[in-house]
Amino acid sequence: MSQSKCRVCREPAIIDLPRHNANFCAEHLLQLCRRQVEKAIADHDMLSFDDRILVAVSGGKDSLAVWDLLTELGYRADGLYVGLGIGGYSDVSARHAQRFADERGLTLLTIDLRDQYGYDVPTAAKVTRRVPCSACGLSKRHLFDRAALDGDYDVVVTGHNLDDEAAVLFGNTLRWDVEYLARQLPVLPARDGFPRKVKPLIRLTEREMAAWCIVRGIDYQVDECPMAYGNKHLAYKDALNSIERESPGSKAAFYLEFVDKMAPLLAGTNKAATGELRACDRCGSPTTGETCAFCRLEARVSGHEPVPVEMVLNKRARTAYLATKAAGE
Ligand code: AMP
Ligand code: FES
Ligand code: ZN
Ligand code: ZN
Repeated sequence: MSQSKCRVCREPAIIDLPRHNANFCAEHLLQLCRRQVEKAIADHDMLSFDDRILVAVSGGKDSLAVWDLLTELGYRADGLYVGLGIGGYSDVSARHAQRFADERGLTLLTIDLRDQYGYDVPTAAKVTRRVPCSACGLSKRHLFDRAALDGDYDVVVTGHNLDDEAAVLFGNTLRWDVEYLARQLPVLPARDGFPRKVKPLIRLTEREMAAWCIVRGIDYQVDECPMAYGNKHLAYKDALNSIERESPGSKAAFYLEFVDKMAPLLAGTNKAATGELRACDRCGSPTTGETCAFCRLEARVSGHEPVPVEMVLNKRARTAYLATKAAGE
């Protein structure tokens, strides 16, 4: 790579992007990222400069990068961090999110599952006997919606990137899960008490976001969630990466062409967007039943004695987690 030159300015390049068949210097990598975000926002009418934006920040590279990008582009964006209680992983994530906000004078809202709702993700996983990502995803979605409505935000931004979206699409396609496919859009419009939700990083990869953070001096949580170890999502990412190596551009074509060509054909099959909603009898959030799924989960697991992370990992995941923990001490 040492000999390669930036496509734009011919100065030494810091990154090669086979998908664009080009190399870029730091400055022009940043320019490319900004342009891809601007294009995603414009193509899908994601955001306006009047919007009050709430960025869901996990402390990882993608969500810190999207917050940085939007702020730099002139949008008004606050952050929201949800403490999931996943041992040391959550502690480190929280520190990165808070430091990023403090250094830039940005507002970060924080919600802690254990302090405010009496449970955490490992405990919920143990009690419900479901995979941790299930209680985790349900809690996050609910709390993002809730915080946006309570704080009068117009829209929730998440840091889902091209790799994330392509991997989810791959999984949904393998199962021909039409209902999920119909919902896998870069923008979910606001409706019946749910805020609009948008994903401005759909045209950028994980690698590009890591490079953005390095060039911009953003410190982020590098480790993957210990509870995600060995899950299918990561396997789908690996599979797509090996296709991408053979045929650069495949990943972007797979997802972006789905959004352009296939998603419109599926519009209308999205049952969740057409069902009748009413207010949850406990929290008032829109739901199809009497009590929303979050309140049902909370009622079931809240107050249960806390279960440590390692108790809900399988053997291989536990070994990997304990090794990372020991290395960090
Ligand atoms: P994940 O579901 O972990 O792949 O994360 C997808 C997106 O959800 C991230 O890019 C963030 O925008 C958001 N997110 C994940 N974890 C958290 C968290 N603990 N607090 C706030 N936002 C989060
Ligand atoms: Fe949700 Fe790991 S971040 S289970
Ligand atoms: Zn350059
Ligand atoms: Zn509820």
